[in-house]
Amino acid sequence: MVEILPSILAADFARLADEIAPLEAAGCRMLHVDVMDGHFVPNFTLGPPVVASLRKVTHMTLDVHLMIADPDRYAPIFIEAGADQIIVHQEACVHLDRTLRMIQSEGARAGVAINPATPVVMLDEILDVADYVLVMSVNPGFGGQKFIPNSLHKVRQLAARKKERGLHLPIEIDGGVDAENVSEVVDAGVQWVVAGSSIFHTVNSRTAFEEMRALAQNASAIKV
Ligand code: DX5
Ligand code: ZN
Repeated sequence: MVEILPSILAADFARLADEIAPLEAAGCRMLHVDVMDGHFVPNFTLGPPVVASLRKVTHMTLDVHLMIADPDRYAPIFIEAGADQIIVHQEACVHLDRTLRMIQSEGARAGVAINPATPVVMLDEILDVADYVLVMSVNPGFGGQKFIPNSLHKVRQLAARKKERGLHLPIEIDGGVDAENVSEVVDAGVQWVVAGSSIFHTVNSRTAFEEMRALAQNASAIKV
């Protein structure tokens, strides 16, 4: 099942509850929450109190993307605040296997992200530990960037490895995805599509979400 995950980075932070309510009403099941610390990436966003506030106003799965230098220290705090899923960056984890298992033992699903410059092979030894994989299709730090086409090649490589090894973990993509390229992204093997600007920076975010979902579901149906 293909899911569109709106990224609240592109939403109005002063009106978060109002921004996400129409999407949940449209059947959106997962919300992407970008956490940046000014160290791992050159930008700041939000911390655990915002996740705790979101938890109070939505039943959607909260997919929390930690673009931070010390995920081992903060992942449990975000889980305590209400995160259902935590993504850590391979590039930020010295002991990635340990970090993923720690997140799972704290009660959340554990995802691992790779930057555009990181090859898929870096995930080979933890594909049966992680619950899902995130391929960054922009360099992390900012919304509204241009999609890096080479990420499709990495998605195809991951999809092939999944098949070879009989694994079913979802592949997520994040950055620069819009109505123009969502079909291609799903066709390459993505199940979870993050979309920020292409949903919230539109006249009607609900309509934008519904259109993206329809395109993604059509591409997925053709694939099967
Ligand atoms: C970028 C973030 C993304 C961002 C995507 O570092 O991880 O989740 O919100 O935004 P768009 O869809 O605008 O590229
Ligand atoms: Zn993200």
